Amino acid sequence: CGIVGYIGKRDVAPLLLEGLQRLEYRGYDSAGIAVQTRGSGLKSVKAKGRVRDLEAKLPKRFAGTAGIAHTRWATHGAPNDVNAHPHLDPEGKVAVVHNGIIDNASDLRAKLAADGVELVSETDTEVLAHLVARAQADTLEGRVQEALRHIDGTYGIAVLHADFPDRIVVARNGSPVVLGIGEHEMLVASDVAALVSHTRQVVTLNDGEMATIKADDYRTYTTEGSRTSTSPETVEWAAESYDMGGHDTYMHKEISEQADSVDRVLRGRIDDRFATVHLGGLNMDAREARGVRRVKILGCGSAYHAGMIGAQLIEEVARIPADAEPASEFRYRNAVVDPDCLYIAVSQSGETYDTLAAVQELKRKGARVLGVVNVVGSAIARETDGGVYVHAGPEVCVVSTKCFTNTAVAFALLALHLGRIRDLSVADGKRLIAGLRRLPEQIAEILDGEEAIRRLAAEYAQARSMMFVGRVRGYPVAREASLKLKEVSYIHAEAYPASELKHGPLALIEPAVPTVAILPDDELLEKNRATLEEIKARHGRILAVAHAEQEKADHTIVVPRNEVELDPILMGLPLQLLAYHTALCLDRDIDKPRNLAKSVTVE
Ligand code: G6P
Repeated sequence: CGIVGYIGKRDVAPLLLEGLQRLEYRGYDSAGIAVQTRGSGLKSVKAKGRVRDLEAKLPKRFAGTAGIAHTRWATHGAPNDVNAHPHLDPEGKVAVVHNGIIDNASDLRAKLAADGVELVSETDTEVLAHLVARAQADTLEGRVQEALRHIDGTYGIAVLHADFPDRIVVARNGSPVVLGIGEHEMLVASDVAALVSHTRQVVTLNDGEMATIKADDYRTYTTEGSRTSTSPETVEWAAESYDMGGHDTYMHKEISEQADSVDRVLRGRIDDRFATVHLGGLNMDAREARGVRRVKILGCGSAYHAGMIGAQLIEEVARIPADAEPASEFRYRNAVVDPDCLYIAVSQSGETYDTLAAVQELKRKGARVLGVVNVVGSAIARETDGGVYVHAGPEVCVVSTKCFTNTAVAFALLALHLGRIRDLSVADGKRLIAGLRRLPEQIAEILDGEEAIRRLAAEYAQARSMMFVGRVRGYPVAREASLKLKEVSYIHAEAYPASELKHGPLALIEPAVPTVAILPDDELLEKNRATLEEIKARHGRILAVAHAEQEKADHTIVVPRNEVELDPILMGLPLQLLAYHTALCLDRDIDKPRNLAKSVTVE
């Protein structure tokens, strides 16, 4: 979900709509806006669907210079007009937008109902509007604090009150709130993406912190009311980084950027003299690194798959046993926390609640946790003991592409770093560094082959279901490619270790279920070719991704050779393009696939 708010001199509705559009990737099943109008109190409009549906519903006269708005990804209650935020109290004096989940919402709803309050929506958020309206304190700040005392759960909120038209009060606990500091105007949002076209000066609130913003100043304090001191920071990325830059979709833009984004994750980190890499943010000296006996990588979705590549790289290059697990599973299974294990949380946004919860549980149990994160200063980046930023730049398309690739490269750097502290030779260090340096050029070469992949996609878009297979190094690539195709084209796809195909899924193979096979030129190539034979014998169609034409395949996408350890990183790229063009053929909503959101900040 996304929040944006503004107070200043300009007409607020168009500003908030623009902000919502920039946040739409975070949730897009309904949207709403509340404005402090001149003379006639608060006015609110909500609409199921996209921001453009909200825009179409706005009355012509909706003038005001303070307001809040929200775009939603439904958790409690179906996406419809009533459940959309802002939520108002019955008198229409208080408007609240909220990200996060109120755990005790049903208790609070029952109590309010028993007091005669009529609840109009099915949401957890609505209780906040009633609680603020019923609070007794003199100030709006005091009333919001009073309301929050009843709440268990996570929130990022913004509150407008008709009796306090000169301010917006915001609070954060587990869901991001960022203030944008302008000239005679202030903004607030759940994500800098909504702020950067107005200001790059931002203040990120901490958990337990609140703020009051007025046109000309802001102040921050805790939920208990003690002042906190903050000073604005400058956002790293310019507003243009959030634009589509001439492409038709963000997904295409982000796929196309990868030669540059990979160059960024490498920049300044390679040390040729010692054939290693420097990762300044790790906060772990050589002695500590030597003490690591196991590595466990946690993430969700594409971040988990990048972690699978990471585990393989760490095990192969640094010779430390490593594995990856979905953070969403790990946090629920009362895992044994091993003091000699290095835990690594992976997240593009740095906000995914399941991943954050896993980090918090690990920290509570005394584990060392690193982050491999894209968004600088995000919750996971802050909660971890150190880590590696992946520097992919803003990623707006819901499905991850450039950030996935950069995360895999960041893991290659980490593996090399750990390897050179342990048993990796200087020669192997140099070989891998040379391989890393070749990546941007080879990525550009792969992306140049887009037209051929587009033609293949037109053919495979007819598939009912698709199989993705790979062995060992190729397997995480198959997993990610299959997820990508599912997310963006809605074609059912399944990823399997190539070695396991004959133990079950081979039963599915027929001409209408083609297989994408990942065949790096490693010691398993012959085994992989045998898998192709098995598929051909069942009249399955095969699209191979390999370093040379494959005789048994119906089509081969040839990718340049790097080093065996790094080849999986390159092999994922053509399959991003395949997913993209398949979705395009099927006329899908590429940047905003149905039912999904960019960062899932709820359980
Ligand atoms: C959501 C998105 C996925 C993403 C996952 C993890 O489910 O739809 O595309 O991979 O979250 O996001 P993160 O920001 O933690 O990498």
